[in-house]
Amino acid sequence: MQLPGLIDPHVHLREPGATHKEDWDSGTAAALAGGFTAVLAMPNTRPPVTDGGTLGQALDAARRKARCDYAQYLGAGADNVELLPQLAEQAAGLKMYLDQTYGPLRLDDMSIWMAHFKHWPRNMPIVAHAERRSLAAVILMAALFDRPVHLAHVSLREEILLIRKAKEKGWKVTCEVTPHHLFLTQEDVPALGPGRSEVRPRLATAADQAALWENLEVIDCFATDHAPHTLAEKDGEDPPPGYPGLETALALFFTAVQEGRLTLEDLLARMVTNPRRIFHLPEQPETWIEVEPQASWEINAAQTYTRCGWTPFEGRKVHGRVRRVVLRGREAYRDGLVLAPPGFGRNLRG
Ligand code: DOR
Ligand code: ZN
Repeated sequence: MQLPGLIDPHVHLREPGATHKEDWDSGTAAALAGGFTAVLAMPNTRPPVTDGGTLGQALDAARRKARCDYAQYLGAGADNVELLPQLAEQAAGLKMYLDQTYGPLRLDDMSIWMAHFKHWPRNMPIVAHAERRSLAAVILMAALFDRPVHLAHVSLREEILLIRKAKEKGWKVTCEVTPHHLFLTQEDVPALGPGRSEVRPRLATAADQAALWENLEVIDCFATDHAPHTLAEKDGEDPPPGYPGLETALALFFTAVQEGRLTLEDLLARMVTNPRRIFHLPEQPETWIEVEPQASWEINAAQTYTRCGWTPFEGRKVHGRVRRVVLRGREAYRDGLVLAPPGFGRNLRG
């Protein structure tokens, strides 16, 4: 079965600063293996991407090493409100961290949020990591400034219901949900273990998960929030939050299609057309993936390209396997082998 190349608007590729977890090479190889031909990279690297110098550093690594197409987010900080707008066209969008996360980018003071809403160009995306009441606050702020906001990794019933209400009002809010919040709950924490289960937002209750599925029409995108940390880090002291997701998302959703939980159209809207529209991404010409729908397999971290070496879905039986990826006319992946070389990826804002 031939499908369009998937787009993931939320990945962490860890370069610069933590290339032992992932880099532009391994992360984009994982993307291709998972059927993604475009990824948008988050700015909570070391150093974080918050100005022209760090954006240049990330984009330079991407230009040399990325195997699939990409764009890089800028991070909103307390001191970069006025310098960001001139970089906006080169960036995937502006990421605002309004709640606890991995890295130093959290913004507490709402006057800084407001300053970014005022200055960031209104035709360029803003993505907010905002949970519970911060989510309500940022939706209000987007409405007051009459501009769109995209809500990252929505995980709770109260959140998806609030977004439904805002959309009913015609407010310009869009949102994404991760595969881990749709396929795992708090009940999986004991089996995962204390370190490996750490993720932000946390895994939620079965009732929260059911509310996400019941409000599928409110969910614009499926985004992996691919957040690789090594097994040693996850199993060590002070485990960092985050799960890898690029190489397991399509099979999880494809299996849900075969179980009748969503349609293939639902899947393609959320993994191709809506992300392309919301993030103003260009069409990728001569680009498609070939999926064998009946192929059943067991998720196994040993067979992945991500450098992190584990997956929260280890051992899960799924249906649907990516056989081939063609990116801009070139065979980029076939039967377990990534064929696009480092540097083949194009900057979608280039
Ligand atoms: O679990 C998470 N990991 N949530 C975030 O917000 C950040 C991410 C990371 O970068 O590791
Ligand atoms: Zn993230």
